[in-house]
Amino acid sequence: CADSSPIHENFIKCMSTQFNAYTRSFEIIFTPRSSLYSHLLQSSQQNLRWVNSTTSNNPLLIITPFHESEIQAAVLCSKNQGLQVRVRSGGHDYEGLSYLSQTPFIIIDLMNFRSIEVDIADETAWLQSGATLGELYYAIGKESRVHAFPAGLCPTVGVGGHFSGGGFGTLLRKYGLAADNVIDAFLIDVNGRILDREAMGEELFWAIRGGGGASFGVILSWKIKLVKVPPTVTVFTVSKTIEQGATKLVHRWQYIADKLHEDLFIRIIIQNVGGDAGTNLKTVQASFNSLFLGGIDRLIPLMKKSFPELGLKAGDCTQMAWIESTLYFAGFPRGSPLEVLLDKTQLYKANFKAKSDYVTEPIPEGVFRGIWKRFLEEELVFMIMDPYGGRMNDILESEIPFPHRKGNLYNIQYLVKWEVNGVGESNKHVRWIRMLHRYMTPYASKSPRSAYLNYRDLDLGSNKDINTSYLEASVWGVKYFKGNFKRLVQVKSKIDPHNFFRNEQSIPSLHE
Ligand code: FDA
Repeated sequence: CADSSPIHENFIKCMSTQFNAYTRSFEIIFTPRSSLYSHLLQSSQQNLRWVNSTTSNNPLLIITPFHESEIQAAVLCSKNQGLQVRVRSGGHDYEGLSYLSQTPFIIIDLMNFRSIEVDIADETAWLQSGATLGELYYAIGKESRVHAFPAGLCPTVGVGGHFSGGGFGTLLRKYGLAADNVIDAFLIDVNGRILDREAMGEELFWAIRGGGGASFGVILSWKIKLVKVPPTVTVFTVSKTIEQGATKLVHRWQYIADKLHEDLFIRIIIQNVGGDAGTNLKTVQASFNSLFLGGIDRLIPLMKKSFPELGLKAGDCTQMAWIESTLYFAGFPRGSPLEVLLDKTQLYKANFKAKSDYVTEPIPEGVFRGIWKRFLEEELVFMIMDPYGGRMNDILESEIPFPHRKGNLYNIQYLVKWEVNGVGESNKHVRWIRMLHRYMTPYASKSPRSAYLNYRDLDLGSNKDINTSYLEASVWGVKYFKGNFKRLVQVKSKIDPHNFFRNEQSIPSLHE
């Protein structure tokens, strides 16, 4: 990088005095004048809403370290020069908090921190934060057909954001969240120290498993406990439109999905379909999308007993190894090589806005008809309903910061996507999803109306500045963390009292 803005120069000078990081500074520091800057900025950016956003929200520098000492140096030099830091692992933050900021900042992008070491004998793995879920699943699948890890469905999601915000997927009912299965971690704190679980202490280790990593430091790597799966699992997707009885099935699902055997996970993906070229009638379709930890012979009787209304037949089901099921849920065609899990080209890049809810009481059937009516007004909308229960009921709300446990029937993610970039377009679709969210108020969890941190939503509230108070931040904080918010603030106040690691929804530090 042959750039020489004053910030760049000062930063390099500072880096050179820290940890001998100078040797590589030309390879790892990129400014807006660098030819690679735009590519680096956008490469892992999942939400396209901000691709053409004003450059004032873009970083002064992007740092792509190869070595821990370079991250330590970057943290200390940012502090030294009054710059904010945004840490990026997979870049999937829904509101772009890992790569956008209104105050001068740098990005520490962990794209070169991707190593994964699986130890099957010990049933554990160490992996760096920049690794993707696809890379993790691939590494496990290469070693064993009977081991797995309970995390999300999209292979390009980064481990750093995902684990630190909770992380759930098809193994949720059997084994809980990704964060429930983390047993150690390395973090660089505001003073540039590298701390493992023992050195950071149990309070900070508690906080980074669901409290969001960005408030506490740079999490370098995680040690996880692998879980056991049978050599053969079964998957199915049964889709029904409103005309085919979707409304009654979705309504019924609410009464059984969280109570099913914990080997059985059935989520629902609802979307508007049809309406192309005036040939198809626009309608709403519900897809019952399932993983069963066992064979078809065990699944069919279980479904006949618990959810006969769906009419599942053996012919709807496919048996495979768990690792192949990760391709199935990611949407790859049957027979794709496992290597597609390593592809970082993001399949689902789009302009989008999402919101989430937890449901504790079944929603009346008529309310679903009201949702369908609203779905038919939009272009491309989804509602994903993920059942809880099973293992999630056994884990206490305070075990880790993620509090959505017993009493929650399911989680809803509402998602609207659009193709045309621009503020006017964005506003139109964002208004629509806010309207849907308002409509759902009486049927969602209350006091607080809770939400999932990894489906980040700045509509819930945001910090005004570095001095945001506990009360001000509680507006959004209790929605994500309920009673755990207070404890997160206590941990934050100890580890980062001057609130260096901050963003619009970071945990505030207590001021005297
Ligand atoms: P990104 O790099 O944007 O980071 C997200 C946040 O974590 C930012 O605040 C960032 O600063 C911070 N952070 C990242 N790395 C850090 C580190 N090493 N140290 C400290 N802070 C760090 N969720 C789910 O539970 N189940 C699912 O199936 C899916 N599926 C899914 C699909 C798609 C297409 C998207 C876009 C998102 C999901 N998610 C999901 C949500 C996902 O879990 C969430 O967006 C994660 O925060 C993404 O983590 P990344 O590292 O990719 O994001």
